[in-house]
Amino acid sequence: MKATVCAIFLMLTAYRGEALRCNYCFSEGTDLCNPTSIQTCSLTQNACAAVILQSPINRSFRQCMNMAVCQGFIGTPGAFASCCSTDLCN
Ligand SMILES: *[C@@H]1O[C@H](CO)[C@@H](O)[C@H](O)[C@H]1NC(C)=O
Repeated sequence: MKATVCAIFLMLTAYRGEALRCNYCFSEGTDLCNPTSIQTCSLTQNACAAVILQSPINRSFRQCMNMAVCQGFIGTPGAFASCCSTDLCN
């Protein structure tokens, strides 16, 4: 029983150690927003993204994102994205 609790505790702390942290913000307009808070990403969100969507959408944001989704923004006309995978790199 004690060993089980110990194993679960180790798994939780290992998980916390692996979870990526990203800057978060969202704004209207095409200037990249300044970070307003920090997100702890889920396991499928393995990248930090900073994205600008130009006219006619005019939005920018920084947040946790799946790397493949983030890279999809890079190839999208009118979108500028940076995708990275270290804590608070966006
Ligand atoms: C987005 O920005 C462009 C360029 O500044 C502007 O012409 C357009 O009206 C804006 N669109 C919206 C929905 O605000």
